[in-house]
Amino acid sequence: MKNTLKKLTPEPVIAWLRGAESDLKLYHETMRQMRRFRRNYARRGTNGKTQVESRLIFFTHQIEKGLSHEHFRYGFGRTVLEQFAPLLKQLKSMDPNVQANPVWASAIDALHEYRVKHERAGKDLSAVRALFDPDIWNMIGEADGKRGGILVIKSADKADNASKTFRELSESRHSLREFADERVSAEEIMRCIDVAMRTPSVCNRQPTRVHVITNPDVIAKAMPLQGGYRGYAMPPALVLITADNRAFMSQDERNEGFVDGGLFGMSLLLALEEAGLAACPLNTMLPAKRDDATRRLLHLLDSEFLVMYIAVGHFLPESKTCHSQRFTASDIATVIA
Ligand SMILES: Cc1cc2nc3c(=O)[nH]c(=O)nc-3n(C[C@H](O)[C@H](O)[C@H](O)COP(=O)(O)O)c2cc1C
Repeated sequence: MKNTLKKLTPEPVIAWLRGAESDLKLYHETMRQMRRFRRNYARRGTNGKTQVESRLIFFTHQIEKGLSHEHFRYGFGRTVLEQFAPLLKQLKSMDPNVQANPVWASAIDALHEYRVKHERAGKDLSAVRALFDPDIWNMIGEADGKRGGILVIKSADKADNASKTFRELSESRHSLREFADERVSAEEIMRCIDVAMRTPSVCNRQPTRVHVITNPDVIAKAMPLQGGYRGYAMPPALVLITADNRAFMSQDERNEGFVDGGLFGMSLLLALEEAGLAACPLNTMLPAKRDDATRRLLHLLDSEFLVMYIAVGHFLPESKTCHSQRFTASDIATVIA
């Protein structure tokens, strides 16, 4: 009976029915995703340990960014420190073995560098000290600075990147936000995009699109809309990775573009590193107004959505960047044997 009905129903009717069913599922599954996100994300005022750790990593990163600036500004980060200090206290009270916690160690080490840099220059830190519990302030003073703070990157160390193993290339890639005052051509970037074309994608449908921007005026308009790059000079080139919804076939795939575009982004970052170009991925999870303005500025198709930017430039002879300490494999992996 079911098969006979199927045979008798014209294809446009089947397509319409399937479309209506898919629209309903799209609504319900998006709401379900929204609810899961709301239950779990690291919102301000959170009491979950993992969420507190996420917020601490965020603030550690803010301090590391400030420390790594070529034009360093003493006294930076006051508003960051105001949130940072109580979160450290919160984590200390939640984790009986906090000294072994990698998030704690990285935060304390970044703050150590902040403290030492200011004290060496004879700056008054009394207002910053007042934010922290005395015992935490002492731990910051006594830290060894090995798991947080800044790294120094030298262009000379990049000369043989093309012959490095994957492990070496991956370990030596770092996000850089300050570049040499030298043009990057679209051709240089296109060669790296060619390398990244081997990135896998769902059923090989290749939803990723790449916009290479070398026009300084367009970059100067795009970056303030991005919002996460304040305080730095404009990069010589900017790459926007998007995904095209026209590659997807059902509501189940509504997030697939972020996965495929993200994979592509990592390939491209490594291809840029191999080519001896410095880069920094930049987020494009923009609020609606800035998303719309970016779409207009870059003439994006309605079917495209933003996945990430990558700022690209040539290495400075020497530059500083964030330490960005990583968890270990055993911190994040669960084995189901
Ligand atoms: C999707 C994504 C978005 C990012 N957005 C920004 C950003 O808006 N501003 C920024 O300065 N860095 C940004 N970064 C760079 C991260 O801070 C950096 O990758 C992280 O600290 C790890 O450091 P590493 O890349 O040097 O290993 C982003 C990275 C990724 C992967």
